[in-house]
This record gives sequence, structure tokens and C-alpha cells, in this order.
Amino acid sequence: MAERDPWRTVDAQPDVRAMIAGLEARGGTRAQVRLRARFLRFVPVRRGQRVLEVGCGTGVVLRDLAPRVGRRGAVVGVDASRTILQTARRLCRTHPNVTLRHANGARLPFADEEFDTALAMTVILHVPDPLAVVREMARVTRPGGRVGLQDQDFGMLGVTHPDRDQTDHILRGVVHRLYEEPYSGRRLAGLLRGAGLAHVRVLMDFFQDTTLEPWTKTFLERRAESAVRFGLVDAAAAQKWLDGFTALVAEGSFVFAMTYFGAVGVKPDGRQPG
Ligand SMILES: C[S@@+](CC[C@H](N)C(=O)[O-])C[C@H]1O[C@@H](n2cnc3c(N)ncnc32)[C@H](O)[C@@H]1O
Repeated sequence: MAERDPWRTVDAQPDVRAMIAGLEARGGTRAQVRLRARFLRFVPVRRGQRVLEVGCGTGVVLRDLAPRVGRRGAVVGVDASRTILQTARRLCRTHPNVTLRHANGARLPFADEEFDTALAMTVILHVPDPLAVVREMARVTRPGGRVGLQDQDFGMLGVTHPDRDQTDHILRGVVHRLYEEPYSGRRLAGLLRGAGLAHVRVLMDFFQDTTLEPWTKTFLERRAESAVRFGLVDAAAAQKWLDGFTALVAEGSFVFAMTYFGAVGVKPDGRQPG
């Protein structure tokens, strides 16, 4: 089932370029920029820190982090995909405080306690053993430092459509076939606790779109394609479903809201219990 998740094996996908373009389109969408900024303030990431991002993709978050930590700070991105890292290198080259490494989040090539903060943004959803990744993130974080996770929760996605049953059938049907844990967002706090982090806090946030922006449109088209591929609907029904959104946009009543959960924990200082 989960081998259907293309984010687990990016380099083996036939459409890596489209995946890269999708990450950049999402990253540049204004509501997503604000969502990431709220989370980085919540962690918080501060000037002078040494920050790791696991599953950095094309470097959308790295480019947010670079000015935030400043010249005295450092940002390190790791990703399991060599192809995506090539793009990240190109897009991050104007940020001298960013470095990139090829690595699996479950086996990080860093010594214990190297970072002030370790982050994973829309990554835990895709990894086969989330706790192993979060434990590794905790290992490389210094005592008193923070581990922060952010993920969508596909059980909490709301979108207007004239055919609500068909919408539920397609959206729920696809995510349960595509992802091992489509409701990843709500599990992040538990993962942090399971990895031994203390003072865990949760920030629930939303990406909302009322105009069917390009990234949302592509997102819904992908869901429709997957629904056909998984045999949930035929091509004509998938197209009719997509057309339903277009009509709502034309009359100004389109609403799309996707829930993101952020969770942050503190690595206990051995001297005092968390
Ligand atoms: C949806 S993208 C998110 C990229 C970036 N964090 C962002 O928010 O734009 C997920 C990324 O995680 C990477 N990834 C998936 N499994 C991984 C693993 N086990 N270790 C490291 N990276 C992984 C993928 O290659 C992909 O670049």
C-alpha cells in the first residue's frame, strides 16, 4: 500500500520534475509562506542557532531558515533523494549559511547533540518508521534544544463541492490507499513524547484557499488522477468532480481548508527530569 507514496522513493518516480515544481509552487503560495512562518516562530527558531531540516526537499524551508538564523547561525538540510538535492543546491546557493547532505532521516550522519533545533516539515507522513526518525532527530539535538514536526492531517480537509458523498469517496479513498498514516498530523505530539522529548506543545493551523490557486488546483487534479488509478471512479466521473470546483469558483463560493499540525518538544537536560 505505502509503496504507492511517491515521496518515499522520489528518485524512482517518472515525474520527479513535476514533484519538484509542486513543492516550489506550494512553497511560494502566500498562505503557505505565512503558515511556515507561524510554525518557525512557534518552535521558535532564533538568530545564531544551528538548525537541521530532515527531508528538506527543494529547500523551501531552508530558505526561510537562512535569514532567520543569520550569518552566525547555520542551516543543514538532508534528504533521501539525490535528484531533489540537486535542485535544493541550485535554489539555496545564494545562502552561504545553508549546507546540504544526502541522508536517510532514520540514520543521520551527525554526532550526538550537534544541533540547537531539528525540524521535519511535511515529511513524517511519508516515512515508514516515524518514531525512528524522530528518535534520530532527538539524538542529534543538544539538551535543552528543540525538535519540531509539522504535517498535514488528511482526515481534516474541508472543501466545498456540490457532491459531498463523491468528494468524501475520492479524498478519503485516495489518501487511505496512498499513505500508511494519512492522519499523521494529529500523531506528531505522541511521536515526540515517544522519542523522549519533554514540554510538548501543539500548534494547529490551516492552509486556506478561496480562489482555487494553482497549487490547490494541481492538488485536486492529482487526487482525481489517483482516484481513477485506484479504481475508485472512472475518468468521466473524475472530470465531472473536478468541474464541480470550477463552477463554485466562478460563483465565488469555493473554500478549501487543509489542517496542519505542528508539534514541538524539548530535549531533556540530563540534570533535571523533563
Ligand atoms: C513533501 S516533501 C517536503 C519537503 C520540504 N520539507 C518542504 O516542506 O517543502 C518530503 C521530502 O522528504 C524526503 N524524504 C522522504 N523520506 C525520507 C527519509 N526517510 N529521509 C530523508 N528524507 C526523506 C523526500 O525525498 C522529500 O524531499
